[in-house]
Amino acid sequence: MIKKNKDRLTVYIETYGCQMNVNDSEIVAAIINNSGMEISDVPDNADVIFLNTCSVRDNAERKIHERLMHLRQYKKKNHGLVVGVLGCMAERLRAKLLEDEPIVNLAVGPDEYRRLPELIDSVTSEKDAKGIAVKLSRVELYDDIPPLRKEGNAAWLSIMRGCNNFCSYCVVPYTRGRERSRPFTSLLDEAIKLSDEGYKEITLLGQNVNSYDFESKGFPDLLEEIAKSIPSVRIRFTTSHPKDFSQSLAEVMAKHDNICKHIHLPIQSGSNRILDLMKRGYSFEGYLSKIEIIRDMLPGCSLTTDIIAGFPSEELEDHELTLKALEIIKYDGAYTFRYSPRENTRAYKLEDSIPEDEKIRRLQEIINSQLAISKKLNDEEIGRIHSVLIEGDSKRDDSKMMGRTDTNKVAIFPKTKREVSHGDTVRMKVTHSTPATLFGEIV
Ligand code: 5AD
Ligand code: SF4
Repeated sequence: MIKKNKDRLTVYIETYGCQMNVNDSEIVAAIINNSGMEISDVPDNADVIFLNTCSVRDNAERKIHERLMHLRQYKKKNHGLVVGVLGCMAERLRAKLLEDEPIVNLAVGPDEYRRLPELIDSVTSEKDAKGIAVKLSRVELYDDIPPLRKEGNAAWLSIMRGCNNFCSYCVVPYTRGRERSRPFTSLLDEAIKLSDEGYKEITLLGQNVNSYDFESKGFPDLLEEIAKSIPSVRIRFTTSHPKDFSQSLAEVMAKHDNICKHIHLPIQSGSNRILDLMKRGYSFEGYLSKIEIIRDMLPGCSLTTDIIAGFPSEELEDHELTLKALEIIKYDGAYTFRYSPRENTRAYKLEDSIPEDEKIRRLQEIINSQLAISKKLNDEEIGRIHSVLIEGDSKRDDSKMMGRTDTNKVAIFPKTKREVSHGDTVRMKVTHSTPATLFGEIV
């Protein structure tokens, strides 16, 4: 039982995984705050520690188990400490999580955050009490809860929740439930409010943003309306699914300068046989036709992707096709993963046939090949001028500042006599580069 030696309970939230989780933690913070508890920036002395978790790969879950082990120290110091696991891992493991991890008091899935105050109350008023809430909802959107955002220039705005795609390897449809979109006007109002509050960049989020669908308004409609309403704010969006990437989306992007010219379009594999087994809903040729639309209508637009190495039954020739896809498409960057079997997914029934060391070898080949491509593309940037939204001082060198280009590349430049600070947009001429960063000077 928590000793109520202060007026208000304090809650510390730690976030793992995707940007949706970051925004979900802000919603959780708002719920906590609205119920009279206090959010703390540090775990020390907090009455409640929440880990907002990810289940997409086994190593993401392993990290949480390690963190829970570490939190035992906190529990030794404060017997009344409430430890809660939120999000995908709570949803996936449910009661088993409470059995396997005795220090966990609460397991709360992504659609049950409204119940957190009541759940905290129930476990703090009774010794060794446990609470679980893991029902998925077809309607929960937290539309009426303005997220408690951290200060900064960039805001996340979730426009939809869940996923209906059931790619065969992916646990998300099981942990986040069915796809549902937030009302059009409420999103527009929130975007305008964020602009009024001084945010300089808004990223529209969804597991599948471009399948946004609300009363016959689609993603291009939403993006256009938001871009028009707040012309001085940069708009980004992620993640797009290739099957929903349309000409009309590219048209809207081309029309509005404040829509950033960067598209994250996960390909996963370059082999049609593997894409079919993954149930991605497109062939390599179909994917390429989307890339052609982008290259055609959005010259200079940067492209990034996700790739899984070592999917069940992936032959060397499938892997070669992925490497070939990288050469053909020339992404600016790629997030690469080793296939990780997830229980209950369709791919789980397939034999995880590629040995781990071979997965690592293929992954490394993909990474090396992509690094060379990124390096070449970034070298071509030398001499070009980009508009950069400043995020702050460079972490490595405080005589320099760091920001991002419209194309979402990290940009570093020396401070000058002319004072600029975070939140300002400057023009930077690129002078040199690495595969991941553009260096330059303000012009
Ligand atoms: N194993 C490996 N990578 C995965 N991803 C999703 N599920 C798995 C899995 N089971 C990757 C995909 C997705 C990204 C967010 O995570 O590439 O696009
Ligand atoms: Fe997972 Fe596929 Fe949905 Fe992305 S689109 S969240 S990979 S099921």
